[in-house]
Amino acid sequence: MTDLNPQAKQMADESMVRNLDAQARAIWPQEVPLIRRYALPAEPRILDAGCGTGEGASRLAELFPKASVLGVDIVGAHLELARTRYTRLAPRLRFEHESIFQLDETDRTFDLTVCRHVIHSIPHPERVLAELVRVTRVGGYLHLIPEDYGMLHFQQGSLDPSDFWYQVPRSFGAATGTDLFIGRNTFSILSAMKLDQITVDYVVVDTLRVPRETFAAIIEAWRDGYCDAIGELTPISRKDALAYFDQMIANIRDPRGYAVWMVPVVSARVT
Ligand SMILES: C[S@@+](CC[C@H](N)C(=O)[O-])C[C@H]1O[C@@H](n2cnc3c(N)ncnc32)[C@H](O)[C@@H]1O
Repeated sequence: MTDLNPQAKQMADESMVRNLDAQARAIWPQEVPLIRRYALPAEPRILDAGCGTGEGASRLAELFPKASVLGVDIVGAHLELARTRYTRLAPRLRFEHESIFQLDETDRTFDLTVCRHVIHSIPHPERVLAELVRVTRVGGYLHLIPEDYGMLHFQQGSLDPSDFWYQVPRSFGAATGTDLFIGRNTFSILSAMKLDQITVDYVVVDTLRVPRETFAAIIEAWRDGYCDAIGELTPISRKDALAYFDQMIANIRDPRGYAVWMVPVVSARVT
């Protein structure tokens, strides 16, 4: 049987808590105008599928002060942290232990179904997308951040990070049954479903748009959370992975350096 959560260890690690915080600070400011495009009712019902520590769910609850927002995840510690951090938004914002492969909600419940930074890390993303469509009402929207590890670019130093990003996601994805290039593949999956108004936009996390320390914190958290697994599952050793990450971090911190992560944001309307 396929492991439906092959990144369970990394997702539950303390480095992931740091990562989700830095990612939200980097991405949310550019994500807001994309979310504001959706024609939502005055009191929208919103699902954040794979909500982690509640970074996205809490921002959605603040962006839509009359919304009711449900965040679901399978890491109990993340849900506890989210409940503790955002008591001020309860009960309008709540967090439940549910798997996005089989949600508890009935068909057509939500006006907006959000799934950020999740479907690259699980097998069978098309099953999860079908489940997200099921719980979204007709005329409601899907809002997805499907990561793509072919969309990170760093400058060459003594190492060439392009070699790292060419080898690691391919091997890591093959070893875990996941698609680490799902960003470019999501449009095709959605195109085969009962959806319209499919859009693909990009949040640009680069050293001009995002504070260097915020961008560096993302790569530091990846380094701290993923070096062991990269050493085990890919042709790049743990030691070499560490050296590549450290060089990428130095590239970001260099005031004259430039680096960019293109983050796909894919949306669609349920018909
Ligand atoms: C990288 S985190 C993203 C968290 C959050 N969406 C955000 O943007 O900050 C991915 C999350 O997906 C969760 N996840 C993975 N498989 C899941 C499943 N089957 N059901 C619910 N959550 C899942 C993980 O536990 C983790 O918290």
